[in-house]
Amino acid sequence: MPENARLQSADPQRPAWSVDWVARWERQQERYAVDREERFTVIADVVERVTEGQDRPLLVDLGSGPGSLSARLATRLPRARIVAADIDPLLLELGRTRHADAVRFVEVLIGQPGWIEALELDRPLDAAVSSTALHYPEPASLREIYRDLAGVLRPGGVLVNGDHLMPEDPVLAALAELVGRRHAGRHGVDDAEDWTTWWADARRNPEFADLLTARERQLAPAAGDGNGLSAAQHEQLLREAGFRHVGPVWQYGSSCVLVAVR
Ligand SMILES: C[S@@+](CC[C@H](N)C(=O)[O-])C[C@H]1O[C@@H](n2cnc3c(N)ncnc32)[C@H](O)[C@@H]1O
Repeated sequence: MPENARLQSADPQRPAWSVDWVARWERQQERYAVDREERFTVIADVVERVTEGQDRPLLVDLGSGPGSLSARLATRLPRARIVAADIDPLLLELGRTRHADAVRFVEVLIGQPGWIEALELDRPLDAAVSSTALHYPEPASLREIYRDLAGVLRPGGVLVNGDHLMPEDPVLAALAELVGRRHAGRHGVDDAEDWTTWWADARRNPEFADLLTARERQLAPAAGDGNGLSAAQHEQLLREAGFRHVGPVWQYGSSCVLVAVR
C-alpha cells in the first residue's frame, strides 16, 4: 500500500457519486481556466523537474478543491506525498472519496494564523502548487501566504501557480480576455455547466445537506470575486517574500503558470 493510502478512508457508499460530481467539476472549471488540462501538464512538468532525484517529494496543493491538480500530480509522480489544502467541506469530501488513495486532504483556511501547522508537514516542502485559487486571498493575506510558503519550501523548492492573472495594461487585458473567450468557443467549453449551476444542483442533492451547512459556516472568509492582482503584482509579492527567480513559464490569454523558485 502506498504511503499516501494511510490517509482518509473513503466512505464505501460514496465513490460512485463522487466520480460523477468530480467529473462535472472538472468540466465546469474548464470554463474558468483557459486550456486547463495543458496548464496542469505544465505545472507537473515544472514539479517533475524540480523534484528530480528526490525519492518521496513532498507537495502541497493550495486551494485544491476536489483535488484535480493533486490527482494529476499523483499520476505523474506516483511516489510523491501530496497534501491538498482547502476550506470547502463539500469539495474536500468529493476529493477524499475520489482520490483518497493518492492525496491527503486538509481542511484549512490558507492564510489564517496556524495554517502551515495545520498541514502537518514533517519536512520542508519540495513544491507548492495551486490552480485557480490564489486570486482569492486579499493582497495583505496573500503577502503573508507567500512569506509562509517561502519559510517552508526547501532551497530550490518551487511555488507553481496556475491561475487567471490579468496583464496590468487594460488594452492587453482586454486582448487576453478575448483570446481566452475564442479558445473557449473553439473547444466547446461554453457549453459546459457553469459554477452557479453546479452549486445549485449540489444544493438539490440531499446527500450534501450537512456538508453544505458546514460550507456556509466555513466559506465566508474565502468568499468574494478575488483580489484582482495582476501577474506583475503577484511577482512583486513573491520577490518581496524571498523567492529568487520569479516569472511566468506558460500563458494562454490570461491563463498563466507563474513559477517562483526559493
Ligand atoms: C475555483 S476553485 C479551484 C479548485 C481546484 N484547484 C481546481 O482547479 O479545480 C478555488 C478553490 O480555492 C479554495 N480557496 C479559496 N481561498 C481559500 C483559502 N483562503 N483557503 C483555503 N481554500 C481556499 C476554494 O474553497 C475553492 O475550492
